[in-house]
Amino acid sequence: MKITDLFFFRRTGVILLSVVSICGVFYLNNKIKVDFLDAKIKNEKQYNYVNNVFNQKMEENAETSSISTKMKEYFQLKPTLVQTTKSQSQFDYLAREKEALSHIIFDSVEKDTSVTYTLLIIISSHVNNRNRRDRIRESWGSIFNWVTVEKYLLVFVVARTSDAKPMIEIADEARIRRDILYLDIFEDFYLLTKKVIVGLTWAKSNVKFKALLKGDDDTFVNIDNIIQFIKINDIIDGYFGNTIYKAKVRKFGRYQVSKKEFKKDIYETYCSGGGFILTNSSVYKMTKLFDLNKIFRIDDAFVGEIAYQAEIPVRGIKGFYMYNNNCKYQKDVMVSHPALIIGCNDFLLKKSLIDNGKLPRDLTLEKQSCYDEKVVCKIEINK
Ligand SMILES: *[C@@H]1O[C@H](CO)[C@@H](O)[C@H](O)[C@H]1NC(C)=O
Repeated sequence: MKITDLFFFRRTGVILLSVVSICGVFYLNNKIKVDFLDAKIKNEKQYNYVNNVFNQKMEENAETSSISTKMKEYFQLKPTLVQTTKSQSQFDYLAREKEALSHIIFDSVEKDTSVTYTLLIIISSHVNNRNRRDRIRESWGSIFNWVTVEKYLLVFVVARTSDAKPMIEIADEARIRRDILYLDIFEDFYLLTKKVIVGLTWAKSNVKFKALLKGDDDTFVNIDNIIQFIKINDIIDGYFGNTIYKAKVRKFGRYQVSKKEFKKDIYETYCSGGGFILTNSSVYKMTKLFDLNKIFRIDDAFVGEIAYQAEIPVRGIKGFYMYNNNCKYQKDVMVSHPALIIGCNDFLLKKSLIDNGKLPRDLTLEKQSCYDEKVVCKIEINK
């Protein structure tokens, strides 16, 4: 065999190999595309389906039961969401954001996209807590109650249960109220972190705002005072609230977090989850670091950890009364918790409105500093 023959065979081999591998890459590439399209179509089908049901008029009649059967069918389908590629680098945060948004079954929120809201309020609420949402809408959540000309927007983030009934009711509520984000994540104390991730990611992608208040549905919020705070503190990055410093990561009980979930022994400083403020720019920085596949179950401590990673300064400020069990009113209140009794919520609102000049003075109320007149407030009043 001549040396040139050897070259010939070698060259043919190389050409053959290249052809095979090019075809292989081409085939695989197409297959991925087809799979992805398939998932997308399935997803759209489900989405349209829920949307149809959502838009139907729902009445207490035979129709309702057929909708509930359909809902059951829907939830028995394994949800095919946008493909969850496990993200390695921080640069594919866009894919992670997309994944977070894919958990929204419907977005009923009525908003003005031409406006920059001074304050966007995102409230985590259990799907069954309609009474709490209504109380908020009618009291401190109502625009008629505050003196501000600044715009704010109130949004509730709710999730699903295995029942079809709450799903139908929430669709109805959302259709009327237009302030609900409904997620396909299960209502579960341990999954509250996911609600926060989806809520904040939604905020970033859908609303223009200066600052965001994340809260729970058992709080009272003084919107005038918060807007005042935002206007005075016109800064780029910030995370404000009632700070919790050097909290231990619990290994037992309701608040336990395993080493596997979270490596540290002490949480970074964080703000109580009942209500805290983040500036727009901080929300942007944090959503880039969110990963639904890397969470731990204490939602407020999780936010603190992400703020720490994003190098956002956390500041404890006055006005966040998170353990206000006597329902005491203080003039600088921004968030008060718990405000579960209707009377307490109304009391705080009235006192706030008198102080900002929206309601006329009321001498009996002025003497009262707590709604729940237990020991502490009585002593104070008698002073
Ligand atoms: C919010 O922050 C982002 C990132 O810093 C910026 O691009 C955007 O314009 C800001 N939006 C508002 C309303 O200030």
